[in-house]
Amino acid sequence: MEGKIGIFDSGYGGLTVFKEIKHQLPQYDYIYFGDNARAPYGNRSFETVYEYTLQCVKKLFDLNCNLIILACNTASAKALRTIQQKDLSLIAPNKRVLGIIRPTTEIIGNFSKTKHIAILATHGTVQSKSYEIEIQKFFPKVNIYQEACPMWVPLVEYNEHLSDGADYFVKQHINNVMQHDKNIDTILLACTHYPLLIPKIKQYVPTNVQIISQGDIVAKSLSDYLNRHPEIESELSKNQSIKFYTTDDSDWFSVQARLFWDITINAEKIEL
Ligand code: DGL
Repeated sequence: MEGKIGIFDSGYGGLTVFKEIKHQLPQYDYIYFGDNARAPYGNRSFETVYEYTLQCVKKLFDLNCNLIILACNTASAKALRTIQQKDLSLIAPNKRVLGIIRPTTEIIGNFSKTKHIAILATHGTVQSKSYEIEIQKFFPKVNIYQEACPMWVPLVEYNEHLSDGADYFVKQHINNVMQHDKNIDTILLACTHYPLLIPKIKQYVPTNVQIISQGDIVAKSLSDYLNRHPEIESELSKNQSIKFYTTDDSDWFSVQARLFWDITINAEKIEL
């Protein structure tokens, strides 16, 4: 049976990825699902992130999604593998769940001339070492420094990311990165919320250092995946529709989501 593409994040961050996916692959039907009531996930345990993510994945399957993208690094790091290896065959053997770490690590080494890269992410993503492990597979000579920025997601979720208060937390982490390794020429924003902080980040990063976010990378990788998997692609409905669901207040979601994506958003609240 035909189904939609589900895009999942703990909150609003996945919209930075979804925007690019919709831009590059406009023909499909999409459902965006933010678990705002329980965001942020970044400091939560493996068990909790797995449990929450699995619940949301099941909900997206109930909403008739055939393919789900975890547009959340924390969920990709802490829940994806177990869902793919253990749960999927039991709950939806013909459906697919993909993450955003693998497509990023496959190409991130190409961006850096010095081969010194900083990964900025939530505490959970850093702690999982997923980026270190995956990048080493594709780019064994790359030097990686990881920095957890635990305050950055709350700044974005509460719309404080461009406030004067945000400068303190942005400067603190960028200084840590540059003091740790002056050869770093590439900073990967390995959290889908962080692109909203780019105007602030740019103020503190040396001009020779490039800042990479994941939207374009993930959208291209999804396009490639669908080309390589016609059995999945042919089962996706193509009416160009978008629906937004949140586990928290839907009016508030619709307002806040506009900070990420300048389109009319009418979200619906959904119970898990
Ligand atoms: N935006 C998410 C990520 O990419 C999750 C942030 C959070 O909930 O802490 O990691």
